[in-house]
Amino acid sequence: ERRTLISALLDAAVDAVIVIDQQGVIRECSHSTSALFGYLHEEMLGKNVSILMPEPDSSSHDKYISNYLNSGRAQIIGVGRDVRGKKKTGETFPMHLSVGESVLDGERLFVGICHDLTSYHDALQQLAIAE
Ligand code: HEM
Repeated sequence: ERRTLISALLDAAVDAVIVIDQQGVIRECSHSTSALFGYLHEEMLGKNVSILMPEPDSSSHDKYISNYLNSGRAQIIGVGRDVRGKKKTGETFPMHLSVGESVLDGERLFVGICHDLTSYHDALQQLAIAE
């Protein structure tokens, strides 16, 4: 059954999977999103995705989305980018962000996947020190 498969996906995804609408409001997210960003699942639903990033992106993210909707020119969709995320504690961390687009009942939705790069960055740091 469909609902069970989606629950399984959201339960089991290792990277944070986040669904937002055209306003940037978080409509659904995987369990792993809580582990990465430190918010409870219920705390994130209905909030703007901008809570998950530091400035200056936080204040500009609504504009990023509306620019894309108006121009059709994507900066991240289909390409991905290394950005900094922000945890509930305020701590920021490196992550790879990929974003895709979907439509549900005629509504445009965006699906973002956040892959934590903290340990990768730490390993690079260690290699640089060892040199
Ligand atoms: C665009 C940052 C998370 C959806 C952008 C842009 C930046 C950005 C820098 C492009 C601005 C530009 O050059 O025009 C971030 C950061 C995040 C984050 C730092 C850290 C949490 C997300 C998530 C989603 C998302 C989780 C989707 C669920 C979008 C969309 C656009 C966008 C739809 C516009 C389309 C595009 O430029 O490709 N974001 N974002 N973002 N972001 Fe985010």
